[in-house]
Amino acid sequence: MSSTTTAPGETLAPGAGPATGAAAAGEATTPGTDPAALTAMLGLDDKVRLLTGASAWTITELPQVGLRAMTVSDGPIGVRGTGEDGLASAQLPAPSATAATWDVRLQAELGALMAAEARRKGIDVILAPVVNLQRSPVGGRHFECLSEDPLLTARLAVAFVDAIQAGGIGTSVKHFVGNETETDRTEYLSRIDERTLREVYLAPFEAVVEAGVWTIMAAYNGLARDGVEQTATAHGPLLEGILKGEWGFDGVVVSDWLATKHTAESANAGLDLVMPGPGGPWGDALVAAVRAGEVSEATIDEKVERILRLAQRVGALSGLPGTVEPYDAHGATEDPASAETVALLREAAARSTVVLRNDGGLLPVDPAANGGPKRIALIGHNAVHPFTQGGGSAFVTPPHVSDPLTALRAAYPHAQVDVHRGGATTLKAPLVDSAVLRAPDGEPGIRIDELDADGALLGSLTLPDAESLWFPVVRGETASVRLTVDLVLEASGRHVLDLGPVGAHRIAVDGVERSASDHVVGAEVILDSSYSNPPHVEVDVEVDAPRSVRVEADLQVVDGESYGRFVRLHFRHRVPGPTLDEEIDAAVAAAASADLAVVVVGTNPETESEGWDRPDLALPGRQDELVRRVGAANPATVVVVNAGAPVILPWLDEVPAALWWWLPGQEAGSSLAAVLTGEIEPSGRLPWTLPADEADVPVPNGTPVAGYIDYAEGVHVGHRGWDRLGRTPAREFGFGLGYTAWEYRSVEIEPGDGASAHVVANVTIANVGDRDGREVVQAYLEPPATPPASDASAEASDRPVRVLAGFAVADVAAGAQTTVRIEIARRAFEVWDVDRSAWHLPHGEYLLRISRSSRDLRLAVPVTVDDRAPL
Ligand code: BGC
Repeated sequence: MSSTTTAPGETLAPGAGPATGAAAAGEATTPGTDPAALTAMLGLDDKVRLLTGASAWTITELPQVGLRAMTVSDGPIGVRGTGEDGLASAQLPAPSATAATWDVRLQAELGALMAAEARRKGIDVILAPVVNLQRSPVGGRHFECLSEDPLLTARLAVAFVDAIQAGGIGTSVKHFVGNETETDRTEYLSRIDERTLREVYLAPFEAVVEAGVWTIMAAYNGLARDGVEQTATAHGPLLEGILKGEWGFDGVVVSDWLATKHTAESANAGLDLVMPGPGGPWGDALVAAVRAGEVSEATIDEKVERILRLAQRVGALSGLPGTVEPYDAHGATEDPASAETVALLREAAARSTVVLRNDGGLLPVDPAANGGPKRIALIGHNAVHPFTQGGGSAFVTPPHVSDPLTALRAAYPHAQVDVHRGGATTLKAPLVDSAVLRAPDGEPGIRIDELDADGALLGSLTLPDAESLWFPVVRGETASVRLTVDLVLEASGRHVLDLGPVGAHRIAVDGVERSASDHVVGAEVILDSSYSNPPHVEVDVEVDAPRSVRVEADLQVVDGESYGRFVRLHFRHRVPGPTLDEEIDAAVAAAASADLAVVVVGTNPETESEGWDRPDLALPGRQDELVRRVGAANPATVVVVNAGAPVILPWLDEVPAALWWWLPGQEAGSSLAAVLTGEIEPSGRLPWTLPADEADVPVPNGTPVAGYIDYAEGVHVGHRGWDRLGRTPAREFGFGLGYTAWEYRSVEIEPGDGASAHVVANVTIANVGDRDGREVVQAYLEPPATPPASDASAEASDRPVRVLAGFAVADVAAGAQTTVRIEIARRAFEVWDVDRSAWHLPHGEYLLRISRSSRDLRLAVPVTVDDRAPL
C-alpha cells in the first residue's frame, strides 16, 4: 500500500471542499473532508474496495478516512429500508399517480416526507425517482415512471430530488437510459437516434443533473447509439461523454443491482460504484486491471473522490481518521401513520384522482343526511383488496392500508354501505390462511428441515405462516430444505392448493408427487422477477368431511449472490365458495337495490410489476362484464379504476361517472371517500394517454427483437405520437374534468428572464362553476408550419405537432378569476442538431396553445423567433 497514513484521531489538513460546483445550496465544506485529500491517503486496495458495495444495501466504510458505511434504500413509493429494521414505511401513491397532480409543490412535500422517512430508517440515499418514460402502455414499470412526457417528468423529478436532497438525503435517479421495457431487461440494447435521445429520453436526466443530483443509476439495458453498442454500465460516450463531460455531473454513477458485466470497460466508461456487493466484477479483478495498466489509478481516484463527495453531502464523512460520524436522524418523522403523514398521503391520492366522466354531475355525492344516499353498494375485487402499489423493488410495507368499506361507512354515516366482491380477478389463489397450517407435531405453522448436499439433516425450524416462506438461509452447508405441513380443511367442496416453487423442487400432496424439477436457479430469478411470479402448481382436493392434507416440498436453496441465499415457495389456497357467476349476480343484485353503486375495477399484483411487461391492456378477469351489468342495474353508478397504467375501458362512455384512482398507496380508502364526497376535489390530469382501442396505440409494446428495441417513433412519443397519427384516444394526455367548470379568458406573452424562462405566458382563467376548484393550465407549443427556407436542418421539418412547454396549477374560488404565470424555457423551442452536435433554435412563427389538455385547446398566441427576437 502506498497510502499516507494518519494516526487515529489526528485531523487532516483542511480540505478545499467539493472540487466542482454543482453541489446543492447550503452545502458546507467541513475542514478535513476534502475528497481529494482523503483519497490521497488511501492505498489502491482500499480505494477499489470502496467501489463495490459492502452488502445488498450498504457502501463500504473506511474508518481510516472517517467514512462510515452509507446505506441506500429503494424508492420511489416509500423508503423500504434494508429490511432489517422491522419498521413499516409510509406508502405513497405510485409515481404515475402523483404525476397526475402536475403539482410541483405537492411533489416537493412528498420528497420532504421521503427524506424524513429515510432519516427514520437510517438511510443515506434513496434509489428514486424513475425518470424513464412511459413509452408503451404495456411497460411493466409504467406505474413507477412519472409520465410519457419528458417535460412533465423532468419538472416533477426535479421538485422531488430537490426536496429530498434539501433534507440531507441523496437520490439516485434511474435508470440511465432507455430503460422502458422489462422483457429481457438485462440483455437488450435500446436503439435510439441521437436527436430522440437528446430531446426526449435524456431530457429528464439532464434536468436533474442541472438541479444538482448526487447520484445517477446506470440501467440494466444497453444503448446502441452512434456506432457504440454497449451496456449502460460500460457505455463511455454516455457516462463519461454526456453525463460527466457535457453536463458536468459531479456525483456518483451507481450500477443497477447486479447490472455490471465488465471490469476494465465499465471502470473506464465512467461507472463509479458497483452495487450490490461484495463480489461482482470489480474487487481484485479491478486491482489487477490497474496493475496491468488497463485502468489508470487516476480513474480510480476520481471514483473514490466522487463517493467521498457523496458521503460529505449526506453527512457520512467525519474527516477524522479513525472515527466515523454516527448517523444523524435529524428531521425524522415519528411514525409513518402520524396524522401529518396520513393527511399528506390522503391529499396526494385524492388530488391525483382523475375525473374521466361525470355525466349529469353525479359526482361528488353529498353525504348529507337528507338527500344523501341511503344505501351504497361497494363492488369489486379491488374494493375488497385495493391494489395500492405495483410489484418489484419499489415495494414497501405500509403501517396500514385504509380500507374502502370502512372509509365509506365513516364518510356516509347515514347510509348502509355493503361490499360485494363480484368475483376474483387474479389467476392465483389467495395466500393460505395460517390458521389452517399445522406442523407434523400438531403445532401451528410449517416445519422446515435444513438438509446438506447428501440429504443429511442439519436442523429444523417452524415457520408461522406462508408469508414467511421466503426465508434467508444462514447455514452455509444447507443445500436444500424439506417443508412439511398439514392443512386442516374444514369446508366441504373443492379446495385448490396453489404452490409456486422457485427453482429445483419436488412437491408431493398426500404422498403423491405433483411437480418436480431439477432446474437449479440463481440470482437471475431476482433480476427477471420470476421469484415473485414462479410457475404455479395447482392441486384440487375434494373434501366431504373435515380432514387434513399433507404437503411435502423439497426446495433448493437459491444463491442470490449479494442478495443472500434463500428459499422461496408461494403457498396459496382457494377455499370452496360461490362461483364467479354467482358472485357477479350477487353484486348486480346489490347494485340494483342501492341508491349508489361504486364499482372498483383494476389491475392486481399479477398484472403490474417490475420484471415483466403486460401482454395486453385488458382489465383482468370479467370486470368489463361486471361494470356493464352494474351500470345497467343502477343509473347512479360510479366506476373507480384502480390501476397505475392504462387499461382499456370499453364501457367508459356508457357509465355515468368514472374516476381514475391509480395505485393510491396506504390512504386508499380515505382518499376514495374524500373524492366521492367532494371533500377534496379530484383535480388530477392524465400524465399519459388513455387509449380507447389497443390497436390505436402508437407504440403497442417495447419487445426486443433480436436483442434490440428500436425507438422508431423517434421524438413522437406518447401524446405526440397520437397527435402525429391523428388518432383519437379514450382520454387524451392532460385530460381531467375536476368538479367545476373553467373559462379561459386571455393570454399575454412577455419576455422571460432569459434564465429559467425565455417567454412567460400570463393566462387568465375563471372558475365559472359553483364549487371552488383547482385547474392545471397547460401550455403547448406548435412549431412553425413551414420552417424558413434558410433553415435546411432535417430536425426543423420533423417536429412534433405540439409539445408540452409549461404548466401551472391554480386554486380558484367559485366565481373568481386568476392569472397564472407559465414559464416557457428556450429548450421548448429548440431541436437537437445532429450534424453540429448542438441545440438549434429554428426560426419562424410558433403558436403557443393554452389548453385544458393536449386536445382541449382554449387560447392561442403566436410567438415569433427570428433574428430580431431570437428569444
Ligand atoms: C431495479 C432498481 C432497484 C434495484 C435495487 C433493480 O432490480 O431495477 O430500480 O433500485 O433493483 O432494488
